[in-house]
Amino acid sequence: MKTDIKTLLAQMSLTEKIGQITQVYPGSVNEGIESNLTGPAGYGDEGDIELAGLVGSVLGMSGAKEVRELQDYCMKKNRLGIPLLFMNDVIHGYRTIFPSVLGLGCTWDTELAKKCAEVAAKESAVSGNHVTFSPMVDLARDARWGRIIESPGEDPLLNSLFAGAFIEGYQGDDPLDKYRLACCVKHFAAYGAAEGGRDYNTTEISEYSLLENYLPPYRAAVEAGCRLVMTAFNCLNGVPATGSTWLNREVLRDDWGFDGVLISDCTAVSELINHGYAEDGADAACFAMHAGVDIEMVSACYREHIPALLEEGRLDIGLVDEAVLRVLELKEALGLFENPYKDASEEEESDLHLCKEHRELARKAAADSLVLLKNDGILPLQKSEITVAVIGPHANTRMHLDIWSGCGKEDECTSLADAMADRVKVVTSHGCGITDGEDEQIDEALNTASQADIVVLAVGEHPSMSGEAGSRAFLGLPGRQQELADRMYKLGKPVISVVFSGRPLTLVDLEASSNAVIEAWLPGTEGGAAIAEVLFGIRQPKGRLSVSFPYTVGQLPVYYNSLPTGRPIPDESDTERYRSRYCDSPVDPLHPFGYGLTYTSFTYGQPRLSKDMMDKDVTGDDIEIKLSIKNTGGRDGTEIAQLYIRDMGGSFSRPVRELKGFEAVCLSPGESRDVSFTITEEMLRYHTRSGYMSEPGTFMACIAPDAASGHWMSFTLLQD
Ligand code: NOJ
Repeated sequence: MKTDIKTLLAQMSLTEKIGQITQVYPGSVNEGIESNLTGPAGYGDEGDIELAGLVGSVLGMSGAKEVRELQDYCMKKNRLGIPLLFMNDVIHGYRTIFPSVLGLGCTWDTELAKKCAEVAAKESAVSGNHVTFSPMVDLARDARWGRIIESPGEDPLLNSLFAGAFIEGYQGDDPLDKYRLACCVKHFAAYGAAEGGRDYNTTEISEYSLLENYLPPYRAAVEAGCRLVMTAFNCLNGVPATGSTWLNREVLRDDWGFDGVLISDCTAVSELINHGYAEDGADAACFAMHAGVDIEMVSACYREHIPALLEEGRLDIGLVDEAVLRVLELKEALGLFENPYKDASEEEESDLHLCKEHRELARKAAADSLVLLKNDGILPLQKSEITVAVIGPHANTRMHLDIWSGCGKEDECTSLADAMADRVKVVTSHGCGITDGEDEQIDEALNTASQADIVVLAVGEHPSMSGEAGSRAFLGLPGRQQELADRMYKLGKPVISVVFSGRPLTLVDLEASSNAVIEAWLPGTEGGAAIAEVLFGIRQPKGRLSVSFPYTVGQLPVYYNSLPTGRPIPDESDTERYRSRYCDSPVDPLHPFGYGLTYTSFTYGQPRLSKDMMDKDVTGDDIEIKLSIKNTGGRDGTEIAQLYIRDMGGSFSRPVRELKGFEAVCLSPGESRDVSFTITEEMLRYHTRSGYMSEPGTFMACIAPDAASGHWMSFTLLQD
């Protein structure tokens, strides 16, 4: 039976209403209910509304038993029988942990991402979770920003497609499905453009770039039906996102038609004061309410100030009711009034968490997220009778989980050395720590390596060096790891470097000291085993970069779809000073967006266009671009053919190229296949001064293996 939300609202006191739009953070799930409900973090122990069962939702609590107990408590205390919503950061897995989202982005496989989200939803739903704070689709162009690891990457199309895929996977079609979660896209908006890559920092973005690059992935999430949106921490063009009526009411609700729940990020309402936007908590509550923020996460401005704001006439009760209604509607849609426990089950937790099927998917996802950056032919490893020295701070450790790894545990991962030892004789040594190291340790590692035929060097960052508040100003390998790599390479044995990191690092020196380099990201529960399988050629490396790899940190932000400069460098041989260049570094990234090697090679044939003119006003007057791709190497391999388009002139300067489509093509040695894409008028549209539309003129298109290559073909968009 459906609960009549409006009648319920009419029965609620103001305190009960404010409770619904307040989210609390339980201190520790192990200390019993009374101590869980200690009130919003940082606000002492004013736990009365929680203890009276009046709070609307809880953040970050997990476990079927704990959640059931707390829901029980609330249902007994809440006079109107309004259940709690349990929300959690289930980002890339709950107990079985998939690669970090940036790694998933590098698979370019949205079907795979959908399956991972489906499993994450299932594992966490049986643990009592109702909402996940995912997908995060903040476009990220600056690898100093630690949260780049949480994003699919730097491209508006790829991020939009991943947004849709994650949402389909989490939510499915039926909100009452016991294995599904409602999801919350974040962080609205443009958090990924934090100045200097420093987390929580301000962002300045032109309206043109916002519309073209930063906003589309959130919009795609709204169009895919995500039920919640989270505001961002950052200030955007002078107004903090959490207090922005333009962003949250005009863009999100009015233009995009979002009618779900808007929740603030953690303490972002009270942070309006630090932003120098609100003078005090009352101001902060007032601004956030007017901006349409339905739930205040963790801070207590709503709860402390809404009553006075209403009395003073600064706030209309209609705004409070609107927010409460949305929260109640979500509870109703998820069936919580009828079934407050949403089938949270300890039995299903033990059946599903880390089950074989989920681990297999995690292994596939981890393998597919690896990006082979360099290979002089040493990979795949051929012989099993060799001895491999697995060296480095990531050799014997299991630091494969980023800081958003749900209930995943490091001891459920396999170290690379152990995974390799299942296939070959392994000797191993740390050599140094992530950020420190003694001469003796390095000497010992060199000694160990000298007993082996091949060195696998497992280097990179500690997981705490990326993620929230994990910004870095230097992007080289931390500590003495580069020195370790240089000295290893001097031994004269083949060196295969495997990099574990939460972001693109500057790898010029490492690549010079390695015969092969694999970017492994933070690969999740099955990461160790997946890497070993790829090293031995049991699985093919398939990943392609969804972010550019900088040559040096001084290039940042560096991304492929930049606007052209008035003084480009015509070709590599050009030495003219007065060009857009650096005196001391290349302009191009070390590896471009879209790049990644395989164990085979592909050649691209001459592209053909079905015609070279398209009429803007004739629907369906599309052009087909086609070429043949051949596997010219000796192994099976998957190529990701990428369609790029460039608009040669517009009422705004247009990017040097934009990804408009891609297709994975699996080919056996010697096999070739035609790949074709349809170029539609819609693909040529952008945010012009007169609206979202295409402008007649010359365009170029190519099908390329990455964003630094391709044979361009031109065509004209006509207008009658
Ligand atoms: C802060 C983070 O910015 C956000 O991504 C996360 O969902 C919330 N905390 C809740 O944990």
